[in-house]
Amino acid sequence: MPFALVAALAGCASPTPITWHGDVAPLVNTHCARCHSADGVAPAWITDPTQAVARADTLRAWVDSGAMSPPASDPACRDYVDAEHRWLDPADRQRIVDWVDQGALLGDPPAEPLAPPPPLATLASPDAWLSMPDPYTLETDDDDNKYMCFVLDVDTSEPFYITGLELTPGNPAIVHHAVLFQVEESDPAEDYDNPAGQQAFDCRAQTGAALWTLMHGWAPGTGATIFPEGTGLPVHADARLVLQVHYYEVPGADRTDRSRYAVTTASEVDRPIAVYIGGAFDFRIPPFVAEHTHHNRTRNVRDDVDILGVLPHMHRRGRAYAAEVERDSGETCLVEGQFDFDNQYTYLFKEPVPWNQGDTLHTTCVWDNSATDREVTYGEATDEEMCVFFSYVAPR
Ligand code: HEC
Repeated sequence: MPFALVAALAGCASPTPITWHGDVAPLVNTHCARCHSADGVAPAWITDPTQAVARADTLRAWVDSGAMSPPASDPACRDYVDAEHRWLDPADRQRIVDWVDQGALLGDPPAEPLAPPPPLATLASPDAWLSMPDPYTLETDDDDNKYMCFVLDVDTSEPFYITGLELTPGNPAIVHHAVLFQVEESDPAEDYDNPAGQQAFDCRAQTGAALWTLMHGWAPGTGATIFPEGTGLPVHADARLVLQVHYYEVPGADRTDRSRYAVTTASEVDRPIAVYIGGAFDFRIPPFVAEHTHHNRTRNVRDDVDILGVLPHMHRRGRAYAAEVERDSGETCLVEGQFDFDNQYTYLFKEPVPWNQGDTLHTTCVWDNSATDREVTYGEATDEEMCVFFSYVAPR
């Protein structure tokens, strides 16, 4: 028998098996462990070899459906800070699925323990901390979720700029995601739900109100957001900075949290960042439709800007999104991915994208309205929908 054929047959008979230790553990270490650990937001069994093998079918189901790791924008569209922590490559996803299908073999432990995954971006030397004024002890509603707003402890008697920011959750086990807003002084927010003078209030609904400007969205896997040299987000005089935290009840976990942002600040910057609200407001999602797609095109009729980053935002029916800049010379992808309401990220681009006068911002949103017997339109309440691309733009 010719040698090549022998080799091929041998290869067929015993392909290198996919094993936990050889293949899956390094992927889990990089893409899952920061949430699935003893002090993380999610069950720790996923990172334990014996338990992962025993419950391999559950693991396969979550990974194969695309639910885990949580969906993020595809860095092949545009590379962003911390992409390596958020994006599970389709080939790697398939490898985990194949591991289960081939019998979820454990394999031999490596001689050396796995190296920790690359660290998240971090602020080297913060100028200040914007902290929840007091520790908060979670009392959940019937569905084990709670959206609380905290007026952060910060002096805004003089305006200033935030040039970088990094959230440290006080209690990672229960802090599921967080959104930072700037609320203008005239907003009647304090009348919504909170007794006078209280700095914390239930705020599931009102964060879409006109005078609430979104500044940052955080979910596990977001490190520091450091804006390019010479740029910064303005904080207006007498504005309040309000942190909305989505808490998740975890049985047995400590219920007290005091989260805080570390920030770098400047009293002046060359290029103040504006939060441009791109997207669509005039969509109509028909009842009982499993996949409804809406496109929107907005021409830049104003000045040339650089888009530094984007936070795509929809509500519970949101499934997928895309945004690109169209110009005569071609299209530039900004963000593109599956949408998960519980894991909304700010994507800060490694390279800003010009959006010049005459260029068009093309946005796409896809919703699943199969479970609703009515048309759904734009609205701030979570049972209405959105298709918003909050974009950090800096003048050029
Ligand atoms: C950003 C945080 C985060 C990352 C990263 C993450 N998960 Fe999860 N995962 C969660 C949360 C939160 C839950 C619980 C969600 C729920 O029950 O709806 C969960 C649930 C699961 C479950 C179901 C657990 C159970 O006991 O029912 C599996 C399986 C899972 N994740 C696998 C993975 C795998 C595999 C990866 C990496 C490829 C991963 N996850 C990455 C946050 C994360």
